[in-house]
Amino acid sequence: MSSLPDDRDRPKTLSQPPANPEFKVETLAPLPKKPTLMDLLVGRLNTPRHGMQFAVTPHVAQSAAQALKAGLDEETVLACLLHDIGMGVARPDHGWWGAQLIEPYVPERVTWAVRFHQALRFYPDASVGYEYPAFYQSLFGPDYKPPEYIEAAYRYARNHQWYMSARHVTMYDDYSFDQDLPLNLDPFVDIIGRHFRQPVEGLGNDTSPSAHMWRTIIDPSKPL
Ligand SMILES: [Fe+2]
Ligand SMILES: [Fe+2]
Repeated sequence: MSSLPDDRDRPKTLSQPPANPEFKVETLAPLPKKPTLMDLLVGRLNTPRHGMQFAVTPHVAQSAAQALKAGLDEETVLACLLHDIGMGVARPDHGWWGAQLIEPYVPERVTWAVRFHQALRFYPDASVGYEYPAFYQSLFGPDYKPPEYIEAAYRYARNHQWYMSARHVTMYDDYSFDQDLPLNLDPFVDIIGRHFRQPVEGLGNDTSPSAHMWRTIIDPSKPL
């Protein structure tokens, strides 16, 4: 006859994990009940997160302003405006996160450009004067070689019909970190209106496959 283990032999489980003294629930400015992309650019993505030195919104706005000035088409301007939006969720693989976030709402080429700009950033293209970013030297070290999946994404994108859309995003990515420039999103209101299918329920409230990701941007310090 087998005997039940003595209580003292059982692993001790806690009814709840120990409190983390570092954790603070952030108080954020309230958003409209049905938040739009513009509400989130202004009310959430305008604050640096995940240990970044810059906030997403001023950087992407400067990048999109350059693309607009260069006379690029509206979908590419929108890709520049959204290119680092994935950093609102997570920093690693932000191109993929960003593409997934926007995929239900934008033309396919915009999603594609956002996804692949991340890999293309590591690879110069002399034909358009794009060089390896100087700050990657300090970020990744002088002898850094991107991982295999980044290399593979680059090789795939290099031969794709939309290569230049992602390449344009990289071209206006550097030179877009001016902390002193006032934020101006006005030039993009109509472009967003024409190419971003804002859900009537508000971002995070619809049933799209990325609604939960928008909710994470809306309330990034929710305990669960
Ligand atoms: Fe990026
Ligand atoms: Fe960027």
